[in-house]
This record gives sequence, C-alpha cells and structure tokens, in this order.
Amino acid sequence: MVRLMRVLGIETTCDETAAAVVRSKPQGGGEILANEIMSQIAEHQAYGGVVPELAARAHIDVLDRLIQRALDDAKLTLADLDGIAAAAGPGLIGGVIVGLTTAKALALATRKPFVAVNHLEAHALTARLSAGLDFPYLLLLVSGGHTQLVAVKGVGEYLRLGATLDDAAGEAFDKVAKMLGLGYPGGPLVERAALKGNALRFDLPRPMLGRPKPDFSFSGLKTAVRLEAERIAPLSGADVADLCASFQAAVIDTLVDRLRAALRVFGERLGACHTLVVAGGVAANAAIRRALTRFCGESGLRLVVPPIPLCTDNGAMIAWAGIERLMLGLHDDMTFAARPRWPLDSDADGAHHGKA
Ligand code: KG4
Ligand code: ZN
Repeated sequence: MVRLMRVLGIETTCDETAAAVVRSKPQGGGEILANEIMSQIAEHQAYGGVVPELAARAHIDVLDRLIQRALDDAKLTLADLDGIAAAAGPGLIGGVIVGLTTAKALALATRKPFVAVNHLEAHALTARLSAGLDFPYLLLLVSGGHTQLVAVKGVGEYLRLGATLDDAAGEAFDKVAKMLGLGYPGGPLVERAALKGNALRFDLPRPMLGRPKPDFSFSGLKTAVRLEAERIAPLSGADVADLCASFQAAVIDTLVDRLRAALRVFGERLGACHTLVVAGGVAANAAIRRALTRFCGESGLRLVVPPIPLCTDNGAMIAWAGIERLMLGLHDDMTFAARPRWPLDSDADGAHHGKA
C-alpha cells in the first residue's frame, strides 16, 4: 500500500518567503492543505531588482509566522507531519540559509525526517503535484533566475538539454521593463504594454535560432531593445508599447524554436516526447502560453502548465518534492549545507544530492 504523507515545505531562495503543507493522494498527485506566501516586491521595488541582503532579512522577519499560518490552515501541528523540506539552493545564499536552518531546527526538535530540496527539481516535479503526471516529460523552465530545457526522467533523474548562456527569460523581461521606465517586476508590465503595441515595428534579433543544441541567449535581444529605444528617444507611450510587443514576439519565436530543437534531442536520447511541462514565472504570460499551446497542438504534444501560483516560486512545490523524495526513502542529514549553485543534471559538477 502506498503510504500517504504530509510534508511542510519552505521556500526562501529568492524574493518570496513561502511555507506550505502538501499531502500525497492515494491515486497519485498531491493535495495542497496550505500554501502561504509573502512577496517582498515592495521591499525591492525602489532598487528595481532583488537586493540579496534585504531579501535575507525579510525572510527572517516573516518565516516563523508563515509556517505557523500554514500549519493552522492545514489544521495540523508539527507532530502530524511526516517530514520537513526546505529549498537548499540554488539561490541567494542568505535567504537559502534562513529557510534551510529553520527546517533543520524544526526537524531536529520534532525528530522528523529533513529533506534538502533542489529548487529546480521542485519546479520540475510540480506538474506531478498538480496533474499527477507520469515520467518522462520535457520541462521548459522559464523564470527570473533560470531558463532551461530539461528531460525529466524520474525523481533525481534529469537531463539538461539546454539552458541560457546569459540572462534568464524573466530577467530579460525585467531589464527591458526597467530600461523603458515601466517598473518592477517587469514581466507583467511588458506583457500589458505589448497588448497595445505593434510587434512588427522593430526588427529585433532572435538569438540562437536554428542552433541544434537547445540553448538560449537573451542578453543580445535586451541590448537590441535598448539601442532601438535610444535611437528613437524620447519615447512616446506608443513607442514603448511597440518595443514591448516586438520584444515579446522575439522571445516567443526564440522559445518555440528552442523547443523544437529540444524535442529533436529528446527524441534522439529518450525516444519520442509526448508531454511538455512549462514552469516558472514567465509561464504567467498569456501570449507565451498561447504560442506554446499552438506549438504543442502542431507537434502532437500534451501541454501541461500548472496553475500560475504553482509555476512561480511557492512552498507547495518544495513540500511536494520532499514527498517525492521521502516516498523513495530519501532524506538528508543536518550537515547538508546551502548551495548557491546546484545544477539539476546529475552529470554536471556539484549536482549530487549528497547523502540520501
Ligand atoms: O518563477 P518566478 O516567480 O521567480 C523566479 O525567478 O524564480 O519568476 C519571476 C519572473 C520575473 O522575472 C517576472 O518578470 C517574470 O517571471 N514574469 C513574467 C510575467 N509574470 C512574471 N514574464 C513575462 N510575462 C509575465 N506575465
Ligand atoms: Zn523558481
């Protein structure tokens, strides 16, 4: 019989402080009993981006309360849990230490198993929480910190097919928003401005187009937007809208082309791919989701996009990754240190999960 588990998940790798409780379901997938999140956007807004030291302090200020709230929402106490999971990286080291140390302390005090979760693994497994998906599948992770294409073969079994060589997709949205004076975080603001814009007005580059290895590059595109903006300055509202629309169209073309390349590599390495999963904050972009829906329809792929609050950073995905690992008998000891860098691919340097 499959054992049902209830796990607390803690996420503090960037600018969201989050705590959640998830319970595994007998038929597969998970049930979210509580999902508390506190965004630090207001703290960082004045700086136009995340300030690591401020982030760490803000996590300390709110994490205890958030955990208590999550337990209260779930109508559970620490004693009811089967394990305590925290994101141990990759991310901003100060924040990661806050979440990891808190999880270790709770696990020690309650004698519950502790799981050090790879934040990227948590994104990769979220579609199994929300949709009970089976392995394997292709994951497009597009967030503010990461842009990767990963073949997800099993828990702990990831093959990174490609990644960005410079900026992440969300980072490019944020930087374009900043240079156009739209504010932070930029993704939703660029998307909104693009609604009224002409995507054909600016002929922006589509970096990496046609390359067989499904890597990305967004820094040249971002620079091209800046050069166009400088060329036509001062910018009217219509100019900003057209720049945003043209930029977003270039990102979409790039994502679709890189996906095509990834499907080819997936096919060569693992056999035909049937499912595409999208995760990360950029998945909130409706124009991008529409383009991916079209692409999957044409390619005969099932598209799975978890609900947006589970695509962006959250505690439920950490709790779920904890459940997946605990179900396989995997957990970690108190020596597990925070990892600012932690590639998903087990072939990559420093990727090993440490002791199970
Ligand atoms: O996954 P996430 O919440 O945090 C991490 O970066 O891990 O992603 C945040 C990123 C930001 O760069 C934000 O600008 C971008 O996702 N984003 C969007 C949209 N909403 C959020 N990018 C494009 N269009 C959007 N609607
Ligand atoms: Zn993330």
